[in-house]
Amino acid sequence: MKIAILGGDGFVGWPTSLHLSDQGHEIHVIDNLSRRWIDAELGVQSLTPMDSIQERVRIWKQETGNTIHFHLIDIAKDYEVFKAWLADNRPDAIVHFAEQRAAPYSMKSDQHKNYTVNNNVNASHNLLNAMVELDLDAHLVHLGTMGVYGYSNVGAAIPEGYLSVDVETLSGEKASQEILYPANPGSIYHMTKCLDQLLFQFYAKNDGLRITDLHQGIVWGTHTEQTLRHKQLINRFDYDGDYGTVLNRFLIQAAIGYPLTVHGTGGQTRAFIHIQDSVRCVELALQNPPAKGDRVKVFNQMTETHRVRDLAELISKLTGAKVAYLPNPRKEAPENDLVVENKQFLELGLNPITLEDGLLSEVVDVAKNFAYRVDRSRVPAVSAWTKEIAEEIERDPEHPRLKSVS
Ligand SMILES: NC(=O)c1ccc[n+]([C@@H]2O[C@H](COP(=O)([O-])OP(=O)(O)OC[C@H]3O[C@@H](n4cnc5c(N)ncnc54)[C@H](O)[C@@H]3O)[C@@H](O)[C@H]2O)c1
Repeated sequence: MKIAILGGDGFVGWPTSLHLSDQGHEIHVIDNLSRRWIDAELGVQSLTPMDSIQERVRIWKQETGNTIHFHLIDIAKDYEVFKAWLADNRPDAIVHFAEQRAAPYSMKSDQHKNYTVNNNVNASHNLLNAMVELDLDAHLVHLGTMGVYGYSNVGAAIPEGYLSVDVETLSGEKASQEILYPANPGSIYHMTKCLDQLLFQFYAKNDGLRITDLHQGIVWGTHTEQTLRHKQLINRFDYDGDYGTVLNRFLIQAAIGYPLTVHGTGGQTRAFIHIQDSVRCVELALQNPPAKGDRVKVFNQMTETHRVRDLAELISKLTGAKVAYLPNPRKEAPENDLVVENKQFLELGLNPITLEDGLLSEVVDVAKNFAYRVDRSRVPAVSAWTKEIAEEIERDPEHPRLKSVS
């Protein structure tokens, strides 16, 4: 297949591009490199030394003989350029990773909120709009998030996208219907993914676009089979307070002798998936497209759930690191349960890599190898969800910016 990977220079997009190229697909990465600019804005860098995208694809060609094409396009801003590219290339499938994906970054300031909404909503809408205009019957696979659901504490598993509800009709009878699971975003970033869901629902219904939305958990790990083939193919690894995700952050904190920073009680339960499984799920989704006229196909792309404080204890046992409980900059329930249905991918043959599989130590090794690149001052998460929380944290003597954590 000819596959366009929007956001193919990113943490999940890059290994996905390599994986699909390895399988013989013709891969076109479209990226505006905004994630690299955000590194410059924040004054941080990937833990792993990342080459330019042009250099990465050169090495891939040298190692495998396969060409990955790169196109520098901002899909949120350059609508005409993007549409012209789609018209000229007419891909069979499009994988859409190209959004601002960090909740803390999206909550940093009013400018960051605007940027995240404008970028993410326009990116998705421009794509859908252009596909209709060009009569492009490509299968669109979007990377969404488990965060669209919020967290259910009613003792029921979160279903894969749709909820069966009974409504009472005017004549007092019960009518059953399936609705999109009620959106319950916990940040501006998650809110954009909820808006994406509505865009997809409309375009599938109105124009018959074939769309799969992958509600993904937090991705951990760094290597995949293909990124390991050459040191210049290495994946990015974010550890900073805005972009670093919880498990990878604990691992780097342990490697540099920094206490594992748990926010609040650590009673938040989250869904996880290893990067290798994430890449494999995209492959499985591409092999199983919905039919034209079907509703949006939704998969829960996660393999296990863990409570944050349990994860911290696990890493602490593995590495001897101390655990530090800090004030929580987020507005969220201090404790939540999370039970998630994920049988669709398992039935399609996904064989999950779990935390127990020993790969944690692989990430510890990556963290140790590149620990010299870490700026310790960028480790704390400081984006507060509301002005009140920001003020409360500033007053707290345990505040990581005020206290030198060693
Ligand atoms: N990493 C995770 O733990 C995780 C979890 C759940 C869902 N997701 C979703 O998966 C997708 C990829 O996540 P990631 O971790 O690889 O993020 P990332 O930030 O590393 O990659 C996103 C890529 O998209 C590009 N991009 C952003 N806006 C663009 C635009 N307007 N035009 C062209 N390119 C643009 C960026 O430059 C970057 O290379 C995101 O949509 C994210 O919401 C990620």
